[in-house]
Amino acid sequence: MTSEESLEFAAALIADARSVVVFTGAGVSAESGIPTYRTGTDGLWSAQNMQRFANPAGYRANLLEAYQWYRARAEGVASAQPNSAHVAIVELERVVPRMTLVTQNIDSLHQRAGSREVLELHGNLRCVRCDACSSRVPWTEAPADPCCTGCGGMLRPEVVMFGELLPEQAYVAAHAAAESCDVLISVGTSSQVFPASGLPLAALVGGAWVIVVNPEIDGQPTHEQVLPLPGAAGQLMPDLVRRAAARKAARAHG
Ligand code: OAD
Repeated sequence: MTSEESLEFAAALIADARSVVVFTGAGVSAESGIPTYRTGTDGLWSAQNMQRFANPAGYRANLLEAYQWYRARAEGVASAQPNSAHVAIVELERVVPRMTLVTQNIDSLHQRAGSREVLELHGNLRCVRCDACSSRVPWTEAPADPCCTGCGGMLRPEVVMFGELLPEQAYVAAHAAAESCDVLISVGTSSQVFPASGLPLAALVGGAWVIVVNPEIDGQPTHEQVLPLPGAAGQLMPDLVRRAAARKAARAHG
């Protein structure tokens, strides 16, 4: 298939679907200027070698430095703006009968673009939480030191670190939606972190099509119901949603 044919085919799948899951990763926010984890030299887990802050033991061992690193990330995402891919995903909700948005991202850009229900699998950078008393405070009001003003416990970001469990409710809901959807659109993820990366597989097992939007893939399907769309989310997602909406409108008038 040419890329034009693939886009039209993807649009037709979406237009026909009763239930769509959009599953996003760091790449959906790349065009908002937020570095991804594993791409190129500015990936968070490569050039800066910050993986040591992302597991509970590493966080504790490097407490002040790690706390400040998360604070800087929270400030970075707060000053970023949603891009056209986030906006297209909001629009998609109006095009399909049922849509579930599942993200691995902690940047809240989907919500800031206007998505109201977002299943966040890896937490968020909105708040810090006390490890001892579980009280939460927004990063904008967080103390300079990682020490809870209420009980003196250790403050930590509200993100899922390596080795920790995903928020159960969000994961269960995401898995149920993936298993039963007609189409899952994977946008901007390297699909390397389990269990989130199992969602496209759950969709395939349930008989759904999986559309993959990512500039780092080639156009070769890895499965008969996987449709790769090589390209940037900020360009492809608005195009895809426009085409799907046009098909539905044409059908409604025809
Ligand atoms: P990665 O950094 O692993 O992957 C980002 C993906 O986005 C890559 O496959 C890129 O090719 C793709 N990409 C880059 N620019 C893009 C663009 N403009 N449009 C579309 N795609 C683009 O990020 P994730 O897959 O999200 O977890 O990583 C998953 C998890 O690993 C993260 O949630 C984080 C990390 O460890 C935790 O911190 C728990």
